[in-house]
Amino acid sequence: MQQPVLGIMTLYLNKRKQFEDRRVYQKMIEEGRRLGLDVFVFTPADVHPTRKLLLAHIYEPFKGRWTRKWREFPHMIYDRCRIQKGGRFQQLKEFRLKHSRLIYLNRPLRNKWTIYEVLSSMASFKQHLPETVLYKSYKDIEAMLKKARLLYLKPINGTGGRGILRIEKTGTDDNFYIIQGRNMRRQIIPRKHIHRTRLQAWIRYWNLDQYLVQEGIPNELESGRVHDYRMLVQKNSRGKWEVTGCAGRIGPVRSITSNLHGGGRAVSMQVLLDHWIKDEELRGRIEENAGKLGIQIASFLESIYGGLCELALDLAINKEGQIYLLEVNPKPSREVFARIGEKDTYRKAIVQPLEYALWVYRSTPAANVPRKRIKTFKPGIGRKKKKGPA
Ligand SMILES: Nc1ncnc2c1ncn2[C@@H]1O[C@H](COP(=O)(O)OP(=O)(O)O)[C@@H](O)[C@H]1O
Ligand SMILES: [Mg+2]
Repeated sequence: MQQPVLGIMTLYLNKRKQFEDRRVYQKMIEEGRRLGLDVFVFTPADVHPTRKLLLAHIYEPFKGRWTRKWREFPHMIYDRCRIQKGGRFQQLKEFRLKHSRLIYLNRPLRNKWTIYEVLSSMASFKQHLPETVLYKSYKDIEAMLKKARLLYLKPINGTGGRGILRIEKTGTDDNFYIIQGRNMRRQIIPRKHIHRTRLQAWIRYWNLDQYLVQEGIPNELESGRVHDYRMLVQKNSRGKWEVTGCAGRIGPVRSITSNLHGGGRAVSMQVLLDHWIKDEELRGRIEENAGKLGIQIASFLESIYGGLCELALDLAINKEGQIYLLEVNPKPSREVFARIGEKDTYRKAIVQPLEYALWVYRSTPAANVPRKRIKTFKPGIGRKKKKGPA
């Protein structure tokens, strides 16, 4: 039987053809080799203009280096493309459309608002969603402030804690608000006290087009730092959803977000939860319910959007132990587990998509059809005059 081939699809970040997570993919290629899965990396910009070939990024573990080679299309695609502005993302959309019949381990999800709408249609999920509306006018903020003391304003396509504002009613005087946040470059916007009557004018400077207005979940530790949890849910080697791990994140001083790329610190979920919730029995229930919720959300979203192989959920837990889903991440990083020293979880997080790919390969007849071998087209061989696209 020929070896199954998995293509990790990503996007270049710049003209120098750099891409994210190279070290992670390197590990995936090494682990794939051990499992009998041939893994390479490519981007939609690497497709040959006329032939069904890709100028792939190949990692050679024994030489410890990356090279480029023309490869046939893989049996399966693991889509790791994160939203970008501009032509590369457009090219990705065209690729997905043109090659929609290929086998994808994961299909793209939707923006934060659509995911909220879809999940809130289910009563069992709704109780775990902070109240949220799509911003249309300042009235939405006013109305939400009547119900909640704390609000988060977030771009529907935001990532990494960018462009998030927090509005909080001060404890003593309902006429004053505390505003703070992160701008689109993720720089901290320091806290300011603003009188109720000045809020609208202040907000006007902020372009809230395509923003969510969301009830904030109080999650400040005694130190004043915010915290939340990152749960990774993945399909396993039997094609079943499983919680791979869950870690805590603590935001830096003066930050209203906990994202690691914004300076957040990763900590063990147990340590953080022990600190936050004193009742041991309640802690046990929270962990159990969070795990169940993660799996239910993954299965449900898969039933709506088609195949998925992993999701990371950002969860906030209030002092009463109520679990809230802040965000669903379809292209999760696994770094949080490495940072807290959970080596086994980190390795599992890398290996599971590969084991799942092997399961897909074995159970999908279309993945197994023998493909023509390419004999004539090798870079630099027999193509002296016309080079392939570089
Ligand atoms: N409703 C909320 N209540 C409390 N904290 C929140 C809320 N929404 C977001 N946050 C904080 O902001 C961070 C980033 O928000 P998130 O919705 O995950 O967007 P992003 O895609 O930028 O990561 C969260 O990890 C959390 O620390
Ligand atoms: Mg997030």
